Amino acid sequence: MKISQEIIQTNTHQKISIVQLENNNGFKATLSNYGASLIGLMFPNNQGEQENVVLNLAKPLDYLTERTYLGATIGPVAGRITLGQWYKEQQLIQLEQNEGNNHCHGGSHAFDNQFWKMEMNENTQGSYVCFSLVLPAGCEGYPGNRLVTVDYQLTEENQLKIRYHAETDETTILNPTNHTYFNLSGGNEATIANHELQLNSSLFAPLNEENLPTGELVQVTGSVFDFSKKQILSRCLQSQDIQVRQQQGLNHPFILEGNQLYDGCLSHNPSGRKVYFKTTAPSIVIYTGNHFTGENTPENQATIQKHGGIALEMQGLPDAPNHQGFGSIILHPQVDYLREDCYQFTVN
Ligand code: BGC
Repeated sequence: MKISQEIIQTNTHQKISIVQLENNNGFKATLSNYGASLIGLMFPNNQGEQENVVLNLAKPLDYLTERTYLGATIGPVAGRITLGQWYKEQQLIQLEQNEGNNHCHGGSHAFDNQFWKMEMNENTQGSYVCFSLVLPAGCEGYPGNRLVTVDYQLTEENQLKIRYHAETDETTILNPTNHTYFNLSGGNEATIANHELQLNSSLFAPLNEENLPTGELVQVTGSVFDFSKKQILSRCLQSQDIQVRQQQGLNHPFILEGNQLYDGCLSHNPSGRKVYFKTTAPSIVIYTGNHFTGENTPENQATIQKHGGIALEMQGLPDAPNHQGFGSIILHPQVDYLREDCYQFTVN
């Protein structure tokens, strides 16, 4: 494993730490401590050409001026929470309402826009990067002084592993994810419409006009949400399904069956690239970059077109505290939160 580091001075006292991990096959991940983010991932296609398979901004400093969530760690709670409210035992907790009346992606000061402490660690599988962040109680309304760590590890088997660990001194809620947009064609030119997706899931959660789950869990059978056998994404993206039209693509949580070696696979035939994914989380939000327009200002988004990437956001179900049957995202003191997501890259 080769490791290289770079420090970039910002125009405040803060510094961005960039680290690059490269395994013996030349599989390369670039990470930034700003947002504990994955800002580049080089993997070869079937011609042996190394290309970047994740969406990123041109320069690490660009992430400071624009909040795109590209490649970032999201939290404390990913997705939306209705009215920013939940009950801790009988007590109403009000989180910041940073998207209309609702709370979204952890609020205005959240995992994706903080400078995380970065250090290198070692386990039996080799070296890994560990980002850590201390969050004081009350930040954006969340209870608990919390310590959160996110590890990124590349293995010699071409796996990228992301491990989350958290602890709190007061009961709180936590549901982190990673917001990497994949584009296995290796560039920003093509959309993900010709990628194929397979998911071991038979239930998805429909959304309302505010992108919040309606609370139902619906069988995918017979709908464009059925990815139990791999499906080309264009079939879903172009369909007249009301849920797809309302979101202009996929932005939906799927319950993972979790009973197989992998929970799903994203593949791109022309390049031969495939990524199998597996998580210890109960669900995944599939987001097909529906808001990108390719002609946005601020200028950094300009090169990202609609459906330019697909985010595979492994997590507990969004808005879980407000829906029966959505599981729990409560974190208690003295109970460590541990989670691992794994992306296995292959080419053929
Ligand atoms: C959300 C989208 C949102 C996007 C922002 C996704 O995780 O589900 O609704 O527009 O993040 O980048």
